[in-house]
Amino acid sequence: MEPLVIESLSKDYDGFRALDSLSLKVEAKSCTGFLGPNGAGKTTTIKILTSMLRATGGRAFLNGVDVTTDPKEALARVGAVVETPEFYPELTPIETLDYFARLRGIPSDRAKSRVMQVIDQVKMGEWKDQRIGKFSKGMKQRIAIAQALLHEPDLLVLDEPTAGLDPRGMAEVRDIIKALRLQGYTVFMSSHLLFEVQQLCDKVAVVDKGKLLIYDTVQNLSTKRHVLKLEVDLVGKIDTETYTKVCALDKVNGVQCPTATKMLIDFDGDTADRRTLLESLQRLGLQVYSFADAGVALEEFYMDLIKESR
Ligand SMILES: Nc1ncnc2c1ncn2[C@@H]1O[C@H](COP(=O)(O)OP(=O)(O)O)[C@@H](O)[C@H]1O
Ligand SMILES: [Mg+2]
Repeated sequence: MEPLVIESLSKDYDGFRALDSLSLKVEAKSCTGFLGPNGAGKTTTIKILTSMLRATGGRAFLNGVDVTTDPKEALARVGAVVETPEFYPELTPIETLDYFARLRGIPSDRAKSRVMQVIDQVKMGEWKDQRIGKFSKGMKQRIAIAQALLHEPDLLVLDEPTAGLDPRGMAEVRDIIKALRLQGYTVFMSSHLLFEVQQLCDKVAVVDKGKLLIYDTVQNLSTKRHVLKLEVDLVGKIDTETYTKVCALDKVNGVQCPTATKMLIDFDGDTADRRTLLESLQRLGLQVYSFADAGVALEEFYMDLIKESR
């Protein structure tokens, strides 16, 4: 049984359809990215999943229990961070989490060790006795994640966990999500950043205007798009004659040169063809020092998907 099953979920806000019959099944122990631009319906979905909002239609099952009819039971083993809670600035992480543990009804003899465990999970040990008031947003977000882990959930639902953080805060929160996924949690997280989903998730559900546009593995999404962009960096400058020869190589659909020493090649081949391409470039006398996926193709694919849905 999948830990999260969404069945034709809809939400109207005063006649405006924010969610339009969205269905999705999230596999156990996967990290699934819920990807879409602002206004796509991500927060609406997650608020329905966490019983902060009532759906207009449809159902959602968390660990097999319908959250629309039995929220308490459905959320018993779900940890969620939807909006970063406001913490008391005077309290330390230990005091804060202890307080949340008590709210959760965790017996006080167990609470203490549990608080230390979740502090470790979000790598805040060094800060456990400092006042939260002086923490960065990223550190507060880590406390929010710790709070969501207190009652030993197996499914984590995170709404744009890195939004509004500085680059370092983003990186730290991403590291924690990666670690949690490796610890065996099922993670369902929204994001408006394709590269973040590519970096963290096994599967991606693209949503826009309240509709599911695509649901696939990140791997498939990258390889299904046959036209791949390769970024090639050269020691010397490329001349017109060589450029023309590169354009004529097998399986090359187009070549852009953003700088005199860099080529972006639209390439329509598999990994074996790529090896041949690299050899051909070297045979043409080009001194290649870097040859890599530019990842642009997926970005373009995503932008096209969103454009089509508008
Ligand atoms: N309380 C509300 N009242 C009216 N419209 C809302 C409300 N909340 C969200 N919306 C609208 O619903 C759509 C989806 O919003 P939201 O779920 O917040 O998207 P996302 O989280 O993907 O950015 C948006 O068009 C938004 O303006
Ligand atoms: Mg949102």
